[in-house]
Amino acid sequence: MTDRGNFGSKIGIVLATAGSAVGLGNVWRFPFMVGQNGGAAFIIVYVGCILLLGIPGMVSEFIVGRHSQANAARAYASFSNSKAWGLVGILGVLTSTIILGFYAVVAGWCMQYLGASVLGQLKGDSTFVLHYFQRFSTDPVKPAVLGVAFILLTHFVIVRGVKDGIERVSKLLMPLLFILLLIIVGASCSLPGAGKGVEFLLKPDFSKLSSQVFLEALGQAFFSLSLGTACLCTYASYFSRHTHLLQAAGQIALVDLLIAVLSGLMIFPAAFSVGVLPDSGPSLIFITLPNVFQQAFAFMPMLGYVISIMFYALLVFAALTSTISMHEIGTAFFSEEFGMRRSHAAWILTIVCGLIAVFCSLSIGQADLQLFGKSLMDFCDFVTAQVMLPLGALLTSILVGWCASKVVVRNEFTNHETASSKSFFGFYMFCVRFIVPVCILLILMHQFGVI
Ligand code: PFF
Repeated sequence: MTDRGNFGSKIGIVLATAGSAVGLGNVWRFPFMVGQNGGAAFIIVYVGCILLLGIPGMVSEFIVGRHSQANAARAYASFSNSKAWGLVGILGVLTSTIILGFYAVVAGWCMQYLGASVLGQLKGDSTFVLHYFQRFSTDPVKPAVLGVAFILLTHFVIVRGVKDGIERVSKLLMPLLFILLLIIVGASCSLPGAGKGVEFLLKPDFSKLSSQVFLEALGQAFFSLSLGTACLCTYASYFSRHTHLLQAAGQIALVDLLIAVLSGLMIFPAAFSVGVLPDSGPSLIFITLPNVFQQAFAFMPMLGYVISIMFYALLVFAALTSTISMHEIGTAFFSEEFGMRRSHAAWILTIVCGLIAVFCSLSIGQADLQLFGKSLMDFCDFVTAQVMLPLGALLTSILVGWCASKVVVRNEFTNHETASSKSFFGFYMFCVRFIVPVCILLILMHQFGVI
């Protein structure tokens, strides 16, 4: 069996875990959800979900992982003293493997668009950009190859280990991502008419709120914080005994929210400045945006060219720090549970996820690769984000809130009564025992049409 390794520094812990949280969920999913669900009103609900469900959920996964210092399956089993709970860890491994498969396809699209931006191939009117996306995404070979390439890129970071691979790459990419984001936000907000986009993002329209918006906000909060996949549990198994779990969760949630809101400030002002409504759904960054950048910076085409490159580079960096975390869950599981070398365990995951990516990519253009009336890609997105993630988070909160020893939970939360956050323990327990499970149960029941 391999030496487990640990993150080497406090900043490494925050950047690597924030790297997992910050991904396509922030830069791609969040803006189109805000666009479709009433702008700032959605953000207010979203912040509520993060505070009441997200942070307590993160702390719970941290507690299980840090206490057990093992891969997800073993962590859940040893935290509860029951092998049956180990299944929750295995559910996490399964969920993250499926997510990695389809997520890599979108990450591959980002690589294609990065290359196309560099080569100046995205120039043309909106029909041209639409056809470009349709032609590319339904191609049987290219997007599949790029998806697999992205998984291989992830693989080569993972095999270098926790400190030299994951931590090092996160320490490099996260600050870079932040700088690129700030530059594009600055450029976007200084465009004429950009104020309307800022207003859309910051001025709430409560008439758009509905139960569906609450569900969407909650699903997005889970996806964005990487909750319910055992990812946070796996990363926490590399935390030091001195890490303050509540503080770490708060910092990571804050970084995640900040990047999501900044992503909105990057996209909406540019879109409004050229009169494009940002409510076009998942295709926003591949169909609407290439054109928006071109038009918005038409007065200085070179700037439009550079901004477009920076934007897709940002997406690739964000995606990579997230795919690394998904890959690590399964790699740690296979290497520790089956006593394999880390590199062999990593290959198992790379091959399985590569196959999922190929089939997901093919399902976009091929009608016969469908499940329950959805393309395989949409089905994987639906079943993980709407069912498996909430289920993982629900079971974790039941384990930590109701089944585990309260003394152990308290000791982890308070670092044996030394952490200043100990006065929050009562509120944390209240959230984990009641608020989190009740809200998730309501969502799942809504999902299955029970209410
Ligand atoms: N949090 C990532 C994002 O917002 O893109 C997605 C993600 C990462 C989901 C890791 C699940 C996971 F285990």
